[in-house]
Amino acid sequence: MDDKDQVRKSVSEFYTKAVKAGTGCCGVPAADEPAIAKGFAAQFAGYGDDTAGLPADAVENSFGCGNPLAFAGVRPGDVVLDLGSGAGIDLLVAARKVGPTGRVIGVDMTDEMIDRARANVAQAGFANVEVRKGIIEDLPVESGTVDWVISNCVINLSPEKDRVFAEIARVLKPGGRMRVSDIVVEDLPGWVRASVALYASCVGGAVSEAEYAAGLRRAGLIDVEVVERFPYGEEMVKGFIASEVPGLEPSTCGCGCSCSEGPQPPLDLDAVASEIAGKIVSSKFAARKPA
Ligand SMILES: C[S@@+](CC[C@H](N)C(=O)[O-])C[C@H]1O[C@@H](n2cnc3c(N)ncnc32)[C@H](O)[C@@H]1O
Repeated sequence: MDDKDQVRKSVSEFYTKAVKAGTGCCGVPAADEPAIAKGFAAQFAGYGDDTAGLPADAVENSFGCGNPLAFAGVRPGDVVLDLGSGAGIDLLVAARKVGPTGRVIGVDMTDEMIDRARANVAQAGFANVEVRKGIIEDLPVESGTVDWVISNCVINLSPEKDRVFAEIARVLKPGGRMRVSDIVVEDLPGWVRASVALYASCVGGAVSEAEYAAGLRRAGLIDVEVVERFPYGEEMVKGFIASEVPGLEPSTCGCGCSCSEGPQPPLDLDAVASEIAGKIVSSKFAARKPA
């Protein structure tokens, strides 16, 4: 196993734990934070009525940082692919938009997330949604078969973002579109980047908006733009990191996983929040494959 696989394994172990515990991540305060009800994550991400009537489990286990499909123009009959589909919230939102003549495919590497998403899809009664196991750097999807690629707070977690961007370009049909909500950061200090917990919490592995957009263009995508930005202030940062950090013990690597780095010290939440506030933004990227 190389370093990149080790990062993916560590992230996957983190999300196995997170979905079992039902805690939030990626900028969303945990469901068990005082005064924060379950389901807050989805509301915070801007779903509005899009989640009405969906299985509660999918909404409560939303780990995203936006609503990639809001105002996206998905039509009945379209094929939508969700990278890092988690417990399935965006699969279900997409399934409603594409209707019975369309198709939705989710790809995730974490067994517990895949199981959860399949159960939520079954409960919602959608026959045209499929969840495949795989990594977003090597998608188990045929080239040129997808109208829309969406993703919600996942690509920041990839140790090989250029591979992911190239895969997006590969699987899209000519003229196909991408809508991705994700975390971008500016000027993160080395000690934040070195934290395994902050990497898995969608902070440490994030790149700047300019780097993200440049990566999409390098992959051959066009009309790359940021259509929405939501900067996180200090309290917001504290809320979401607090949802991950309490489990940190000096004797573990920070996410209950087997890390090659070995033990990491507990994080000082106030220090992290004051360091990150103003440098972290949930952004929504749009792009298109040339026709
Ligand atoms: C922050 S959660 C987001 C889940 C979902 N998109 C949502 O909005 O609730 C990240 C998800 O991406 C998956 N993931 C992270 N890196 C991945 C990779 N390289 N390949 C496949 N799945 C990945 C994790 O297993 C997890 O389910």
